Amino acid sequence: MPAGGPTQSDRSVRVQVPGHEYEVRIGTGLLSRIGETLGASSSVRPGSRVFLAHDANLPQAVASAAGRSLETSGFRVSAAALRADESDKTLSALQPILVELAKSRQERHEPLIALGGGLVGDLAGFAGAIYRRGIPVIQCPTTLLSMVDASVGGKTGANLAIEPGDSGLLKNVIGAFHQPILVLADVSTLISLPDRQYRSGIAECIKHGLLSADFGDPGLADWTAAQLDSIVARDATILAELIQRNIAVKAAVVRGDEREVSPTGGRALLNLGHTFGHAIETLTGLTLPGFPAGPLLHGEAVALGLIAATACSAASGSCPPSLLAQVQSQIAKTGLSTKVQGLPPDAQLLSRMGHDKKVEGGSLRLILPAGSGRSKVARDPSPAHIQSGWAAIRA
Ligand code: GLY
Repeated sequence: MPAGGPTQSDRSVRVQVPGHEYEVRIGTGLLSRIGETLGASSSVRPGSRVFLAHDANLPQAVASAAGRSLETSGFRVSAAALRADESDKTLSALQPILVELAKSRQERHEPLIALGGGLVGDLAGFAGAIYRRGIPVIQCPTTLLSMVDASVGGKTGANLAIEPGDSGLLKNVIGAFHQPILVLADVSTLISLPDRQYRSGIAECIKHGLLSADFGDPGLADWTAAQLDSIVARDATILAELIQRNIAVKAAVVRGDEREVSPTGGRALLNLGHTFGHAIETLTGLTLPGFPAGPLLHGEAVALGLIAATACSAASGSCPPSLLAQVQSQIAKTGLSTKVQGLPPDAQLLSRMGHDKKVEGGSLRLILPAGSGRSKVARDPSPAHIQSGWAAIRA
């Protein structure tokens, strides 16, 4: 095995999109070997400056281990800590990253490493996409959610505040497609993840199971349901398989439709549960029964969105009613909430859904599960069916 190459226990998925091909490596201890890995990569010049943008909430040891490994391998490291907060994920949060990149005289060929959860990956990845019109980005996700979804596929971006207050903050409406040159998913970072955050990532895995039959893994939903106890317990072997299979599904989706332009769904299918979820994710004043008051995590909003989308699908006759019970039961078993208190009236929720990126020519495109591991696009679903979705999660 070459120095910096994968160890025997590492797993790997290749992502191919037009003009880009890169590896997603999944393993334990990848961050403490990151210097060797970059040293062995033909995409990074020896002795380059490397900009390490890391989540300020990460255990200090994680960012330090990565920085030490890079320095030991001869890279010159500049670092910036980012506060990972959904309300801060705006254009104004980009400015300090860009200023630090410029101050550290980062050149166009020199990489930025985004080390943290999806929010850091999106924001730092966006900075990497626009600084000097694009520098190489290496995504190092440290949450389950960002490992199985956000770090793969090249979506970067920020929220846009169109009005003061939480209802004026629109999710991810600005951004750029900027594929990373490498993704390192170090499973050991999941061990110290707070329970609520960890479990919220399982929502994206449940989502993939609802659409994976068309993307090479028809058995993913059943396997995930059967392994939920081990997944919740963070069993390392099961986790590695979970992450690899989910990334493989995501890679297959992205390979077919990188820019989300397919009329039959393609990448837009990954927004299953997100049109409902995004409409409530940035709202304050919502409470999940049994949880302290405070904003929803992305995965918690997605979990509720999956239930709402399935209820909407069942109401419109697009999936068997038994699918709703299955989705609710998997989400409950994960320890995620299946209901939310404090939802605004349906009319307000419908209006917020109208701001979603999936609106085309003024018509709403919802992704609905169809059963048997398949999902489909529904154009302009009836408001009554959408209301059935909201009713299913309203506490
Ligand atoms: N997270 C959805 C996508 O990457 O398209």
